[in-house]
Amino acid sequence: MTPLLEISNLRISVNDKPILNGISLNVHQGQIVAIMGPNGSGKSTLAKTIMGSPEVKVDQGTILFEGENITELDVTDRAKLGIFLAFQYPQEIPGVNMRYFLKSAYEARFGKKIDQLEFKSLLSDALKKLDLDSSFVQRNLNYGFSGGEKKKSEILQLLLLKPKLAILDETDSGLDIDSLKSVAQSVTLLKQSNPEMACLIITHYERILEYLIPDKVYIMKNGYISAEGDINLVNQILEHGYACFS
Ligand SMILES: Nc1ncnc2c1ncn2[C@@H]1O[C@H](COP(=O)(O)OP(=O)(O)OP(=O)(O)O)[C@@H](O)[C@H]1O
Ligand SMILES: [Mg+2]
Repeated sequence: MTPLLEISNLRISVNDKPILNGISLNVHQGQIVAIMGPNGSGKSTLAKTIMGSPEVKVDQGTILFEGENITELDVTDRAKLGIFLAFQYPQEIPGVNMRYFLKSAYEARFGKKIDQLEFKSLLSDALKKLDLDSSFVQRNLNYGFSGGEKKKSEILQLLLLKPKLAILDETDSGLDIDSLKSVAQSVTLLKQSNPEMACLIITHYERILEYLIPDKVYIMKNGYISAEGDINLVNQILEHGYACFS
């Protein structure tokens, strides 16, 4: 079966500094794939590269999505194809009302206008699932949000935009145990309603992986993949740290 995402021998630089040094990985439809690795190993850069961030320069290699070469596509076109990145540090956007932003993002994702009433009902369903009050979307995008609220704002986008590939960059960091559980439950819920969605979960900690069991785990170190395996790799990291991976 053609992988949903297929990255081959990817070399990336940022500001002329090589960051990713030949990464190859696959994600299949419906899979949960975890990427773990120490600080500075290149995890967020990989996430940005898959999303098509203009900051990164592809020096070599290809990114295929559903078998199509997307290496040269920009962020907007990748979002339309169904790739979504939940950022490690979601940006605060003071002048942009959250509800307006979500409606525009929805229309861009699905390439059609949606009427106010229909959107209202979609939005209120999503808010209910996340146990959020409707006042949440009357605020400006992430502006003045607590760390936990910012993560919920990303999950809300995920619920509405129904991506084929959701990349969650450290979605667990900065969350207390109850918020972590609630975010993990939301992703589980989302996967139940959209089983074809694949998740690429970038994390330092094994905690979120207790709730979202990965089908595959990659360990990144110094801009390359140093190990590939299953949940047992996570247990090795817990016992020995990243030092045992070369
Ligand atoms: N814009 C940039 N300019 C220069 N160096 C950069 C830039 N962005 C990333 N880097 C460098 O690339 C390396 C990888 O960074 P990246 O943010 O991808 O790591 P990470 O694995 O996500 O780390 P963390 O676990 O701390 O989030 C780091 O050494 C970082 O300093
Ligand atoms: Mg990072």
